[in-house]
Amino acid sequence: MPTALITGATAGLGAAFARRLAADGFTLVLVARDEHRLAESAQQLKLRYGGAVETLPADLSTEDGLTAVESRIRDGVDLLVNNAGFGHPEGFLRTPVADELRMLKLHCEAVLRLTLAALPGMKSRGRGGVINVASVAGFFTRGTYSASKAWVINFSESAAAEVGHPRVKVMALCPGFVRTEFHDRAGMDTAGIPGFLWLKADNVVAAAMRDLALGRVVSIPDPRYKAIVAVGKFVPRNLAAQVSARIGR
Ligand SMILES: NC(=O)c1ccc[n+]([C@@H]2O[C@H](COP(=O)([O-])OP(=O)(O)OC[C@H]3O[C@@H](n4cnc5c(N)ncnc54)[C@H](OP(=O)(O)O)[C@@H]3O)[C@@H](O)[C@H]2O)c1
Repeated sequence: MPTALITGATAGLGAAFARRLAADGFTLVLVARDEHRLAESAQQLKLRYGGAVETLPADLSTEDGLTAVESRIRDGVDLLVNNAGFGHPEGFLRTPVADELRMLKLHCEAVLRLTLAALPGMKSRGRGGVINVASVAGFFTRGTYSASKAWVINFSESAAAEVGHPRVKVMALCPGFVRTEFHDRAGMDTAGIPGFLWLKADNVVAAAMRDLALGRVVSIPDPRYKAIVAVGKFVPRNLAAQVSARIGR
């Protein structure tokens, strides 16, 4: 049985990856901080899909958490989903620097280190995949969140090129707004986001798995967001930054 390790597997997109991969017959390793919720998620997945599910409680914004997950990945995983992440309610100037650094540790350092822990084994086995969950925000400018997701996209593209193995895939997944716990946890007001822009987590994951199989390096699920990113490329960066900053106020 192939093994998939998913970070942030107890809610939102991570939980949708867990359901999909369990249904596909993967043995799962679920990572998140809340031990109780991890155990519950594992129990439900085992009941519904019947496969083996391990839990690994870890805070990936800490050294201990990162080391524990790196070590489990080096024991062998076939698919790594670097998904854990969070948002800030306020812009850069109103966010404590400790929160910004925690975000960079989770969105960038954890993605870097876990990908590096996974790829050598995948290369030597001649197969494997890494999905790094970025965001459509990575194509625009919106504080440290966007900057960290731009890093995830750029890093994934260069890792994919450097691996140079047709059966070892690295892909950045760039969803738009998805109905998960993300915005509530961040204390964001979503009232102004039009209904048609919301995606369902299960649909995002289905698109991601299709794109990974097709060998895409950057996956933007849903035509609405493909169009937004395409149009965004023609908007001058300084104008886009001013609009983003105004929306943020
Ligand atoms: N929702 C959106 O609109 C959207 C759009 C684009 C991209 N994304 C990206 O998608 C990814 C998943 O977001 P989501 O919307 O599914 O969020 P979510 O519903 O809030 O779920 C976040 C998951 O990450 C875990 N987590 C958070 N901090 C962690 C840490 N320090 N160490 C380990 N696990 C941690 C949480 O569990 P614990 O609290 O128990 O640790 C939970 O399982 C993120 O990278 C996010 O940036 C989301």
